[in-house]
Amino acid sequence: MGDRLQGYSLLMPVACSLLPVAFISQLDEYSMSKKVYIETYGCQMNVADSEVVVSILSKAGYEPTENINDAGLILINTCSIRDNAEQRIWGRLKAISHLKKQKNDLKIGIIGCMAERLKEKLIETDQLVDIVVGPDAYRELPLLVSEAEAGHKAVNVLLSREETYADISPVRMDKNGVSSFVSIMRGCNNMCAYCVVPYVRGAERSRNPESVLKEVKELFEMGYREVTLLGQNVDSYNWDNNSGNIGFPELLEKVAIIDPLLRVRFSTSHPKDISDELLYTIARNKNICKHIHLPAQSGSSRILKLMNREYTREWYMDRVNAIHTIIPECSLSTDMITGFCTETEEDHKESLSLMEWTGFDFAYMFKYSERPGTKAARKLKDNVSESVKSERLCEMISLQNRLSIKSKKSDIGMVFDVLIEGFSKRSFEFLSGRTSQNKVVVFPGGDFKKGEYVRVLIERCTSATLIGKCI
Ligand code: 5AD
Ligand code: SF4
Repeated sequence: MGDRLQGYSLLMPVACSLLPVAFISQLDEYSMSKKVYIETYGCQMNVADSEVVVSILSKAGYEPTENINDAGLILINTCSIRDNAEQRIWGRLKAISHLKKQKNDLKIGIIGCMAERLKEKLIETDQLVDIVVGPDAYRELPLLVSEAEAGHKAVNVLLSREETYADISPVRMDKNGVSSFVSIMRGCNNMCAYCVVPYVRGAERSRNPESVLKEVKELFEMGYREVTLLGQNVDSYNWDNNSGNIGFPELLEKVAIIDPLLRVRFSTSHPKDISDELLYTIARNKNICKHIHLPAQSGSSRILKLMNREYTREWYMDRVNAIHTIIPECSLSTDMITGFCTETEEDHKESLSLMEWTGFDFAYMFKYSERPGTKAARKLKDNVSESVKSERLCEMISLQNRLSIKSKKSDIGMVFDVLIEGFSKRSFEFLSGRTSQNKVVVFPGGDFKKGEYVRVLIERCTSATLIGKCI
């Protein structure tokens, strides 16, 4: 989370048709050499959104390129989930400020969650920023960029109850051409006490299933072999139409039957909503990956209640038991927060024991970061000291390292279907891919190509990778 994921830039050849003709031809010449660059921070949803943004700008005549130094417009797609994610963006703005000095016609836009949270304040705080656009206003980007080009500061942070960008075909920016994200819903209605997402991404809305299926079919035809269906809480996906209502299990199965060679993943499930019906759907479709990301956040029922998660430790354990029973080969990952308001040593030990009991294959672990405006910020005291949060996080990370190694060691001697994603990072003689359980496997290349499936016998492992040979 929070890392810079990718950079991309766009070329803007022609200006807005509302401008006087003489001005257009002047701009035309000037714009032909002017490029636009997008940097994406935060979650997979932001990666998917940047692809929508590129699509919208391409339709308005912009063309993608990748060099920030050539850019006449820089867009930063931001994350607000924790304070350090925002600090990273401020640092990045500082780091690119010299570009603005070199080119006084350079425009900088902040888009996404931090734009939504800070609104005009972003421009007041940092004069470098010319454009501020929230996650539901990307259709307005061409207009807002034109405004900025004309010398005005441009802001649109309106949230919408309907916008899903369903009709927009995202321009794919991944490098491998094998796996891609498809957004199936936006926003969140859950109101977990610590979380800023409902405030910056608005209310939950589901995307028309026909547009989801169309997008996935197009991806498959382009050669993609894995899609991850994205939503803040996919289990509450719901689409009503005349012929009835489609929930997430049904949508997932419709995607899976597009082609048996297409792997389907999804993120994120909510423990309070994940149903047996979903688990049976995963179990009966070979190409729905046997991995569930099921954020527990805490192992203490008292803390879960304060977090407004709407389940208890026992409920979470019941769901894990159901997963193991219905999909025995399923891997599990989680998100955990340490040092939430009033968390005691005993609560923390309950988080550790839940992790140990579940035996997570993977975990994202965070120190609690108070976010202004959330229920926790308004009603609870952020009273666990920074040093205690850090100590607890360290303890949690070392436990998870042990669990991750245990999970990989248990795969030694087993054979997995691996979807090849490309060369291994270390050597062109090795290929790298993933199992259905989302574990990375490295093996000697042979004649295989990315996008193909191979059967791999696992012979050994490191802390992050399974190593094997094709059989
Ligand atoms: N502080 C720390 N972690 C947070 N997350 C969400 N909000 C916060 C916060 N204020 C974590 C949760 C969530 C993941 C995406 O980020 O674990 O599942
Ligand atoms: Fe945030 Fe909770 Fe919604 Fe996830 S489910 S985005 S943690 S409010």
